[in-house]
Amino acid sequence: MGRITRTKIDQGGTAVIYKAEDQDSGQVWAEKRYYHRRDLAFHELALLEQASGLDCVVALAGAPKANQHAVTLCLEYLDGPALDRYLVDQNISPKAKTQSLRQAGLAITQLHERGITHADIKPDNFIVINNGMKIIDLGLARSEKKPWPYDDNSVVGTLEYISPEQANRESLFPASDLFSFGAMVFEYLMDERPFGERPLEQFRRESYYRHADEIRGKIASYEDFSAYPEKVTREWIMRRLCNNHLPADLVFGVGKVMAKRPEDRSIEPLLEALEHCP
Ligand SMILES: Nc1ncnc2c1ncn2[C@@H]1O[C@H](COP(=O)(O)OP(=O)(O)O)[C@@H](O)[C@H]1O
Ligand SMILES: [Mg+2]
Repeated sequence: MGRITRTKIDQGGTAVIYKAEDQDSGQVWAEKRYYHRRDLAFHELALLEQASGLDCVVALAGAPKANQHAVTLCLEYLDGPALDRYLVDQNISPKAKTQSLRQAGLAITQLHERGITHADIKPDNFIVINNGMKIIDLGLARSEKKPWPYDDNSVVGTLEYISPEQANRESLFPASDLFSFGAMVFEYLMDERPFGERPLEQFRRESYYRHADEIRGKIASYEDFSAYPEKVTREWIMRRLCNNHLPADLVFGVGKVMAKRPEDRSIEPLLEALEHCP
């Protein structure tokens, strides 16, 4: 191996991401460095191994490395924008954007077929690459083979996208990802998040690994969020979408993934509606 140069790409909620390049061979990969939560690094590694071979999930590019400072996961380098940026790019057509959302939904379905619930579905955890979509960040994911190793109650996903059962510290289901996906599509269609922007913005980067009670206490102090999750009903979501004169099949599809009870959700109508979006 030759001289390796590293460029910081991003600092996420849990880790720092670098692009690494071998100056001699030209080989490129990404490194996700966990400086604090070593346990989570190994959790994510196990989930990435379980997802290996799936086209829609970032692949491992080598063995992990650990020293006294950090645990580093080696990942394939994904050369493309995260979906949050892609969806607001003025140079990209609405058709391409709705198709990218559909691909994200299909990717979630494939992950579920592998027995994995992502638990932190949001636009910044997808990367758009040439005609494809990759899910990243399995740091909070769960599967029967690899259940969450900690006190389940202490963890939530990302506030703007989490399902009522996640906010309520109940069990997490694959259908919890569907709700979060619905919140993503809602945000794109409405140009606002279903549960408000302003009051929650300050919690955006704080939302991991905190006691849900603490977060919910803060949320409850904001009037327009105080009824959450009681106010999250399919009818409430659909009424807001209808007010924006969106096609009926899209409204129905988003309503269906954002049903309050996990057992009432399904993704197929939304995937179909996105496919036929103009
Ligand atoms: N394999 C990769 N290739 C390129 N960029 C990546 C890769 N993995 C992550 N990133 C970038 O780093 C950001 C944070 O990565 P992520 O795995 O979501 O970390 P965190 O768990 O801290 O949220 C992503 O939103 C993306 O911009
Ligand atoms: Mg992330």
